[in-house]
Amino acid sequence: MELRSTGISGLDKLLRGGVPADGLTLLLGDAGTGKSLLAHQFLWEGVHKEENSVFILTETHREAITRLFMDFNWDITKYEGKNLRIIEGFTFSYPDFLAKIEEEDREFTLSALNLDKLIHLLTTASIQLGENGRCIIDSISDLFILLGNDIRVLRFLRRAKVFLAGENYSTIITLDPQTQGTVATRAAMHIADGIIEIRLREGKADEGLQREIRVRAMPQGHDSAWHSLNITPKGLVIDVK
Ligand SMILES: Nc1ncnc2c1ncn2[C@@H]1O[C@H](COP(=O)(O)OP(=O)(O)OP(=O)(O)O)[C@@H](O)[C@H]1O
Ligand SMILES: [Mg+2]
Repeated sequence: MELRSTGISGLDKLLRGGVPADGLTLLLGDAGTGKSLLAHQFLWEGVHKEENSVFILTETHREAITRLFMDFNWDITKYEGKNLRIIEGFTFSYPDFLAKIEEEDREFTLSALNLDKLIHLLTTASIQLGENGRCIIDSISDLFILLGNDIRVLRFLRRAKVFLAGENYSTIITLDPQTQGTVATRAAMHIADGIIEIRLREGKADEGLQREIRVRAMPQGHDSAWHSLNITPKGLVIDVK
């Protein structure tokens, strides 16, 4: 099975090499566990090696995301328009913002929350780039929040999965299970090929909250134990013996 490195060597060890090259991996965790950071690190691993990369962001606009990447010295700006497409998939309901977007003629900005249009932007981006690459959708929770616990979000996920698998794209999507009902989370888990979980655990007296990660399901063999996960200036680190 063809695998793609996550950019986190400890996680690659747990995964016996990486995530499936044509698979959809669901990253589950409560708010603040580090889902976005892990997804960003996975994307950066491909972006800086000039692999085809698509980023669907639903939390904020691209300038804010670019700054977050820069905290780790991951300068994604020089790859935009080359091997990277950033799809701003959140509804800009602010007239001033919409005017700015129209003025700048941003090809990959969703100006209304329309999941058919979002699929169209995704297919356009990956067809422009070509086969073989990676994609992140951060996060599906925002789509559920904006649309309600909506079957349309799950259909979007399924269509995206099938399309991206056909293009041999490895995809990571993030989901906070607390933001919607169990049924939607279970359905997303069913659609995904693999599942990785992050949790926060109360540490010893002066340790504060500790992050832990485990691979819950994956088509290839994997280590399914919980391992500690740390944020360092170089990104996430998992110590695996
Ligand atoms: N540059 C950084 N240096 C140190 N810690 C950081 C840095 N960036 C983010 N963090 C910390 O990482 C944690 C996880 O952030 P992240 O945004 O990845 O969480 P998340 O799981 O995506 O949360 P949400 O569900 O709210 O989107 C946050 O608590 C934040 O304080
Ligand atoms: Mg996040």
